[in-house]
Amino acid sequence: MDMYEQISAAANSLVCRIDSPNPCCLIIFGASGDLARRKLVPAIYRLFRQKLLPTGFFVLGTARTEMSTEQYRQLMHDGLSESFPNECDDDCWRDFSALLNYRSIDYDNPESYLKNLVEFLPELENVAGSSGNRIFYLATPPTIYEDIIISLQRAGLSEENGNSVKIVIEKPFGQDTESAQKLNATLLRGFQEKQIYRIDHYLAKETVQNILMFRFANSIFEPLWNRRYIDHIQITASETLGIEQRAGYYEKAGVLRDMFQNHMFQLLSLTAMEPPALFSPDRVRDEKAKVFQSIRPYDLDRLDEVLVVGQYGNGICNGEEVSGYREEPGVAADSRTPTFAALKVHVENWRWNGVPFYLRSGKRLKNRRTEITIHFKPVPHMMFTQTLGGGIEANTLILRVQPDEGITLEFQTKNPGSRVCLMPVQLNFAYPRNVTLEAYERVLLDCMEGDQMLFVREDAVNLTWKLLTPLIEKIESNSDYPLYAYGAGTEGPPEAARLLERSGRSWRPL
Ligand code: BG6
Repeated sequence: MDMYEQISAAANSLVCRIDSPNPCCLIIFGASGDLARRKLVPAIYRLFRQKLLPTGFFVLGTARTEMSTEQYRQLMHDGLSESFPNECDDDCWRDFSALLNYRSIDYDNPESYLKNLVEFLPELENVAGSSGNRIFYLATPPTIYEDIIISLQRAGLSEENGNSVKIVIEKPFGQDTESAQKLNATLLRGFQEKQIYRIDHYLAKETVQNILMFRFANSIFEPLWNRRYIDHIQITASETLGIEQRAGYYEKAGVLRDMFQNHMFQLLSLTAMEPPALFSPDRVRDEKAKVFQSIRPYDLDRLDEVLVVGQYGNGICNGEEVSGYREEPGVAADSRTPTFAALKVHVENWRWNGVPFYLRSGKRLKNRRTEITIHFKPVPHMMFTQTLGGGIEANTLILRVQPDEGITLEFQTKNPGSRVCLMPVQLNFAYPRNVTLEAYERVLLDCMEGDQMLFVREDAVNLTWKLLTPLIEKIESNSDYPLYAYGAGTEGPPEAARLLERSGRSWRPL
């Protein structure tokens, strides 16, 4: 047994497995790009190794670049070796690579769709026995999403005739309310909502899914999950990475589009939503949409009281000297793109009235950490004041999304000894390592299975853009809106503390 098999065997007792999905093929647009090379094909390979792919499966990669299927296989092999250097097993790769095919395509030329998809696809399908079930995966730059969608529809490729046809779309899903609505309208002209899979890879993280299990499969937490017991909630997604080679995208996006409209708001909705009557994709997504509908709209004249934005300067991150955002290649020397934001959110409903949610996310911060922390109210009466002097810390529940996936409950116990003194302790659950599916493995499997639970529905996209677009426009159109500098490798701009300090609260240190 190699190491991979040993880990898989040890993990087997803990992992709940699905049956193989129905036969299908995956058509990747943008198949020679970074996403396909570093994430998608490695994820399919790992599923293959775990024997989770359907029998009757193949991949057809398409992109503008001219190359043969052999050259494509080599390119994908290189990508796998970079992303998962310990997992590339020669025998396994040989068997797997036989599933990879490539055709170059001209994205806006109908002839090209006819030749490479309408005519060629059935040949591959007959050999593989994939029953005509198709998943079109858009891994191209978003600027050509609409061309591809329209071409697929015109070629009749969006229609289901006894087979299943799905389309998967990567973020960013639009740039603002208007562009997102336009993209949705284009999609819905030829595809039905049940065929559309809008990805938010955060939803596919094992620990993010666990938020719902934790809340609704245990009877002891849910009674406390409301304004009576909770003082406030913090949601943090801090990264040590900078913008890597993505200045072109990031300069136009900034942290609010890149992290808040999708990942941060999705974490918020799972934390705040009501229990659905059934754990089914639409029931869960109905409840999430209700959270977005309950968020108090922002008073733009007083936006600086609830939104703090910042941009990293140079500093030391992960022990290395790194340059500031404005010195990154491709970034304007006077760029005002925020790389950090902290936002106060009020969910105005029966459960959460008066309980603020504080969201913060940024690049080049002190640590890589995504977590949701529930800060409970202090005890109603402090009977230990005389013996202890000061106050005692209120309970905190920490849902650790990454790294060190798990859950921690912080509470008080008595220190052993003759004097009465309290000590905060932690009750800790850690996910065992290597048992979770990578986000892209999960996303692909769910799509093959036709389970839309972890994908974002049209209403959520529109609602989240509606909330954020005015804020983004306000800071982009107003060069006086304060953009605070912070050193790389720090906790972000000190001004972010202001959001909480007014009410005597503070951020959990990173
Ligand atoms: C992506 C953003 O959606 O999420 C990136 O575009 C960000 O800027 C990334 O770095 C973070 O994802 P993860 O899984 O590394 O937390």
